[in-house]
Amino acid sequence: MIELKNINKRFGDKAVIRDLNLTIPDGEILAIVGPSGGGKTTLLRILAGLEVADSGTFLVDGAAFNPADATSHEQVVGVVFQDFQLFPHLSVLDNIILAPQMVLKADKAACLAEAERLAEILGIKDLLQSYPYQLSGGQKQRLAIARAMAMNPRVLAYDEPTSALDPELRQQVENLIVSLKKDGVTQIVVTHDMQFAENIGDQILRVSPVA
Ligand SMILES: Nc1ncnc2c1ncn2[C@@H]1O[C@H](COP(=O)(O)OP(=O)(O)OP(=O)(O)O)[C@@H](O)[C@H]1O
Ligand SMILES: [Mg+2]
Repeated sequence: MIELKNINKRFGDKAVIRDLNLTIPDGEILAIVGPSGGGKTTLLRILAGLEVADSGTFLVDGAAFNPADATSHEQVVGVVFQDFQLFPHLSVLDNIILAPQMVLKADKAACLAEAERLAEILGIKDLLQSYPYQLSGGQKQRLAIARAMAMNPRVLAYDEPTSALDPELRQQVENLIVSLKKDGVTQIVVTHDMQFAENIGDQILRVSPVA
């Protein structure tokens, strides 16, 4: 179980996140909706350790953790950003195994085996030697998800995973998220699509406009 307690974040005089409290039970999906500028991406950046909250507590199974702790070998939340942030000069395979090797110091053979397993699950196994520029939008997204999963996070989070996709691909993403849930993966999904949020979310968090 992941808990956030009284999280606050300001940029200058803008209170972007105000006293945010939430609990995500294992294996559940939290959908986050709300107006543009409401702090949704900021929250994911904080959970990924790219931004630091001004105050508040993060707990995993009741134990406090600091998402910005770069020395931690455990990644609690893995985030798939909207623009994917793939490494353009690395193959699909190397995109997947880089972080586990560098950060988790995992054994290369184990990383390769895990990358193949994830690529199989995500339907990109025949693309492992390709480069990001050779992939379609949907394939890039599945690579970004494989790369996040390779860090073996407790929670997988996505920033607007369907926004750039046509209806068929949108359905594929929905199916993928639901199938990961069946495998027990805990997930956070930021979306502007209320129907999508209702289809997949066990709970829906509505963020309010920035004060
Ligand atoms: N590093 C930063 N420095 C200053 N202001 C920032 C920074 N990052 C975000 N903001 C501001 O914080 C607010 C929240 O931004 P954020 O990207 O979290 O919104 P969002 O809910 O993801 O919006 P959207 O739905 O448009 O993606 C915005 O007003 C944004 O300009
Ligand atoms: Mg955003």
